[in-house]
Amino acid sequence: MDPTLKENDPVLFIDRKRRRYLKRLRSGRKITIRGDILADEVVGLPEGSRVRFSSGEYFLVLRPTYADLIPNLPRQAQVIYPKDTGPMLLWGDVFPGATVIEGGIGAGALTIALLRAVGPDGRVISYELREDFARMARDNVAAYFGDAPQWTLKIGDIYQGFAETGVDRIFLDLAEPGRALAVAAAALRAGGVLVCYVPTALQLKDTVDAIQADPRYAEVESFETLLRHWQVKGLSVRPIHRMVAHSAFIIIARRLAG
Ligand SMILES: C[S@@+](CC[C@H](N)C(=O)[O-])C[C@H]1O[C@@H](n2cnc3c(N)ncnc32)[C@H](O)[C@@H]1O
Repeated sequence: MDPTLKENDPVLFIDRKRRRYLKRLRSGRKITIRGDILADEVVGLPEGSRVRFSSGEYFLVLRPTYADLIPNLPRQAQVIYPKDTGPMLLWGDVFPGATVIEGGIGAGALTIALLRAVGPDGRVISYELREDFARMARDNVAAYFGDAPQWTLKIGDIYQGFAETGVDRIFLDLAEPGRALAVAAAALRAGGVLVCYVPTALQLKDTVDAIQADPRYAEVESFETLLRHWQVKGLSVRPIHRMVAHSAFIIIARRLAG
């Protein structure tokens, strides 16, 4: 990818204390943090440059990584944390060219990760109940992923069923994934992977019980991820004091033949 910053790129301005400000490079517009700078002065620079604002303060300018982007994504619903998205993509075994269904879409955080993982030859079909969430997710995908001809967004209730069959992977991030086992089984191909994301222990138990009672599924796994950053500064080499102690449980299951 060309490192040169372009008009409309989302970029992070990072100050000396490593505070991050997500902005877009809109031609003719000023970017204001403490002092300001014209977006046109930043366009054309390679990312990783330092730029001087009118206040005299310097900021490092970089395109956001996925992990940088997600905490800043405009949202109305809770997004899946990047610490969970990574293992979900790997345990969910999303591969270039895969056909993947997701329900629901929320702010589109997982959608962006799925689109990146399936690549241009894959397909992502997102189901969402609410028009307003769908609109926000559409805006987020356009702004932070770009053109996505391999993506279809459908307004609908997943419990009513999916139109697709022969699907490789299904991701469910909604309250009662256990209620969607029959519709997911009808859409998944034999050997396909079901990935569920549920925040509470009761949802975990209900979902796993339902999967284990369903003869169309096997190989059920449940886990959570704990990510602990470390400070490495002079002699102070230790875990940081605060961390996200809980987000949600991840449940994986395989669709059997028949
Ligand atoms: C927690 S959010 C999903 C967040 C998303 N995974 C992300 O990373 O941004 C749950 C979403 O599921 C949607 N939803 C809830 N029940 C649904 C249903 N029966 N069919 C389709 N979508 C549903 C909600 O409207 C909401 O947008």
